[in-house]
Amino acid sequence: MPDPAIDRSIIETLRANFRARLSSAASDRDLKALTDEFLSRKSGSVTALLKHLGSLPADAKREFGQLVNTLKGDIETALADRRAALDDTRAPAGAVDVTLPARELPMGRMHPLMRVRQQVEDIFTRMGYEILEGPEVEEDYYNFEALNMPPDHPARDMQDTLYLDAPIIGGTWGAHRGALPEAQVRAATLLRTHTSAMQIRYMKTFKPPVRILVPGRVYRRDNLDLTHTPMFQQFEALVVGEGITLADLKGTLEALVHELFGADAKVRLRPSFFPYTEPSAEVDISCRACGGSGCGVCKHTGWLEILGSGMVHPAVFEAVGYDPEKVTGFAFGTGIERMAMLKYGVDDIRLFYENDIRFLEQFPL
Ligand code: DAH
Repeated sequence: MPDPAIDRSIIETLRANFRARLSSAASDRDLKALTDEFLSRKSGSVTALLKHLGSLPADAKREFGQLVNTLKGDIETALADRRAALDDTRAPAGAVDVTLPARELPMGRMHPLMRVRQQVEDIFTRMGYEILEGPEVEEDYYNFEALNMPPDHPARDMQDTLYLDAPIIGGTWGAHRGALPEAQVRAATLLRTHTSAMQIRYMKTFKPPVRILVPGRVYRRDNLDLTHTPMFQQFEALVVGEGITLADLKGTLEALVHELFGADAKVRLRPSFFPYTEPSAEVDISCRACGGSGCGVCKHTGWLEILGSGMVHPAVFEAVGYDPEKVTGFAFGTGIERMAMLKYGVDDIRLFYENDIRFLEQFPL
């Protein structure tokens, strides 16, 4: 017959054992193992003690039974408490785990041409220019004739033109031929070859002073190569008023170039020819690749051509009804692609229109 004193120490040993095991139980699995070990019907150690009760004399059975039942109750309570504590740390089903690292979403960015265009618009807005666009389908009159390029003018060959099938809409441009009554003149419609066309539209509509910037698409019959696309983008600036001089043109160009290419960029005006300006000048900046000392990019000249410019030709003022004795003005125009190529060191214009993400990704957000 077991000695109750020994049995009591068995109970205390079991209790201590359980406490130690419980303190390191950290998961559902640990709790399940503990439950099995102490309470399972077949092999639990507390269950074994309870079974042992049957073989004890009546008063030992009572005393010993009470102790074992208390132990069993304590173990059950402790396990239930720990299970509840574990449940509290668990996120409810479907809850978001805010500690997970975020999944990266692909992010679009502004096209390099749009960046340059917006930067240019921003620069001119700050200088008080009005920004406006014009029609891409244009009449010969605005694109050529009023810009001092009558129908057989050789300067038209500077820009190979895409003509559209034109309806007979009447108009004035053919009147000088004298052959057809005005109503039957076929107004030659074309895709504008330059944004200069908007000079005429604007001046025909508004009186001086004028200070406008015209960004937009233009079209030419060019084959694709490193520096040509049949559609590209330009911006055109036009300033007209009393006492506007070549110095105003140069100052404006310098302001533009310094903002776009950096304060160290030098500007040079080179005599040139455009039918709608007199005098005309092509504008160069010091080479962005070599800083002006000469390299492959600038063909060892130290300079890169960036735009065409000049003082508005009196014939243009006459065509729009401005008095060339009263007002003067300057104008310039350039390709946005060319600006972007020089600014970002891009050597193939076609890249801008291929939408290859590997190219586009290289520009800042
Ligand atoms: N229209 C010219 C071109 O497309 C650029 C240009 C030259 C614009 C001289 C101007 C200018 O306003 O004065 O090549």
